Amino acid sequence: MLARLSSLLALTAAAVTVSAKPIVIRDSPITLPIARRFNLTGVPSILKQDQARAKVLKARSQGSGNYKQAAALFDANATNQAVDYTVSVGVGTPPTFYNLIVDTGSSNTWVGAGADYVVTNSSVDTNNTVTVIYGSGVVFGEQYNDTVTLGDLVVENQGVGAAEFTLGFNGVDGILGIGPALLTTDTSGNGTVPTVTDTAFGQGLIDSNLVAVSFEPATESSVTNGVLTFGGVDDSKHTGDIAYVPITSTSPASNYVGIDQAITYGSAGIPILNSTAGITDTGTTLLLIASDALAAYQNATGAVADETTGLLKITQDQFDSLESLFFQIGDNTYEFTPNAQIWPRSLNSAIGGDADSIYLITGDIGSESGAGLDFVDGFAFLERFYYVYDVADSRVGFATTEFTNATTN
Ligand SMILES: *[C@@H]1O[C@H](CO)[C@@H](O)[C@H](O)[C@H]1NC(C)=O
Ligand SMILES: *[C@@H]1O[C@H](CO)[C@@H](O)[C@H](O)[C@H]1NC(C)=O
Ligand SMILES: *[C@@H]1O[C@H](CO)[C@@H](O)[C@H](O)[C@H]1NC(C)=O
Ligand SMILES: *[C@@H]1O[C@H](CO)[C@@H](O)[C@H](O)[C@H]1NC(C)=O
Ligand SMILES: *[C@@H]1O[C@H](CO)[C@@H](O)[C@H](O)[C@H]1NC(C)=O
Ligand SMILES: *[C@@H]1O[C@H](CO)[C@@H](O)[C@H](O)[C@H]1NC(C)=O
Ligand SMILES: *[C@@H]1O[C@H](CO)[C@@H](O)[C@H](O)[C@H]1NC(C)=O
Ligand SMILES: *[C@@H]1O[C@H](CO)[C@@H](O)[C@H](O)[C@H]1NC(C)=O
Ligand SMILES: *[C@@H]1O[C@H](CO)[C@@H](O)[C@H](O)[C@H]1NC(C)=O
Repeated sequence: MLARLSSLLALTAAAVTVSAKPIVIRDSPITLPIARRFNLTGVPSILKQDQARAKVLKARSQGSGNYKQAAALFDANATNQAVDYTVSVGVGTPPTFYNLIVDTGSSNTWVGAGADYVVTNSSVDTNNTVTVIYGSGVVFGEQYNDTVTLGDLVVENQGVGAAEFTLGFNGVDGILGIGPALLTTDTSGNGTVPTVTDTAFGQGLIDSNLVAVSFEPATESSVTNGVLTFGGVDDSKHTGDIAYVPITSTSPASNYVGIDQAITYGSAGIPILNSTAGITDTGTTLLLIASDALAAYQNATGAVADETTGLLKITQDQFDSLESLFFQIGDNTYEFTPNAQIWPRSLNSAIGGDADSIYLITGDIGSESGAGLDFVDGFAFLERFYYVYDVADSRVGFATTEFTNATTN
């Protein structure tokens, strides 16, 4: 406590030398509620959307040089945003509040898909443009520097895109990109744009350059039960110790919040995915794995593809004998229970499914393993384990939560 107080004071003293504005000492870390929402009116294809995103993540990670390739992969059929996880973020002075998708798979922050960007006296036009292609969405706009308000955190001179053209963002205003800053080579000005986490840390507003995410399983279509934390972990949100692993060295997963992981099935330890690189991603709904891994999983579970939802489907008998998946990450094994492997049955209709059917949340990433990005641990995984992206130390942490073994689905 004392140590933290003195480091805060030291940071504050440093900040005073560069800014004449009064400094407010904040009790870092800062937490923000995350809302989850389904759009039941579109024709949702969650799998299609996640697959389109994964394809583009693979192609665009080397920066703007790969735009043409990324653009060619853009799938206009996958732009129906069926489910999203948003935080309310203020931009400008006074702030206008926007609902932004929390995304560790990209790093540009921008607004204007829904509510327009409002220029205020803290807005500085950098005269650069920004273009980001997400696979299931696209944004083009003007790059500003502005004051960004995240709960009690007020970050100045943050790079923010003001959208002039977007596709695929229904019912949200933009994206809060909190992945590695290296992914932000999308502006016409050269170099990267610091993320809000980087900027807040650089301005001495948070103790550590890290973000942590708590998601909880949910059975309602709209609920606010996630927590995004800047600058520290929220110890009330995890039960086990946080175990860290370094960001993978395998490209292209190494450009994201990428890790190495192996997956086995059941007590017999049937190999599903041998140790390989992939990413963690709050912008993906499902758990995506390489085609060969999905075939092994299907073989182990007896699941069949369901045409209507695009997901795998199992019978009640198969569910009764479904075993856990085991994720080997670093020295730790994370048990992913049968209940975690199924889509919440109360939300079957939200994805166009039958109320009585049982759908699985694991899908095909669309390529064989060995591609350097062989899985995406999306929301379905992250709602079972507390998740920390430690930017400063290039590592990723996981911990069990009170929902790891939840039987809500
Ligand atoms: C998009 O949908 C249309 C009509 O269903 C189809 O003809 C087209 O091939 C689809 N495009 C992609 C990239 O899947
Ligand atoms: C910007 O405008 C707000 C009120 O709209 C005011 O409180 C603030 O002092 C202004 N900032 C600057 C730098 O002029
Ligand atoms: C925008 O902010 C960054 C720091 O976050 C700074 O390096 C850059 O010079 C600013 N650009 C303009 C045009 O003010
Ligand atoms: C952007 O362009 C405008 C108009 O040419 C100019 O007034 C302004 O100073 C430029 N801003 C920066 C950050 O270069
Ligand atoms: C839901 O999706 C439809 C079709 O994509 C879109 O037109 C509509 O604006 C969305 N509604 C909300 C509340 O997001
Ligand atoms: C970016 O770099 C290119 C070539 O390296 C240069 O031509 C261009 O002027 C630079 N743009 C800015 C905004 O610095
Ligand atoms: C995965 O590992 C197992 C056991 O080491 C091996 O038999 C299998 O061929 C490997 N699969 C792939 C796709 O490399
Ligand atoms: C399917 O499972 C059987 C045993 O249940 C195994 O012998 C076979 O190799 C598996 N096939 C694949 C593709 O994993
Ligand atoms: C979940 O259940 C498994 C098997 O019963 C048990 O070994 C594990 O400790 C439980 N995990 C948590 C976080 O409660």
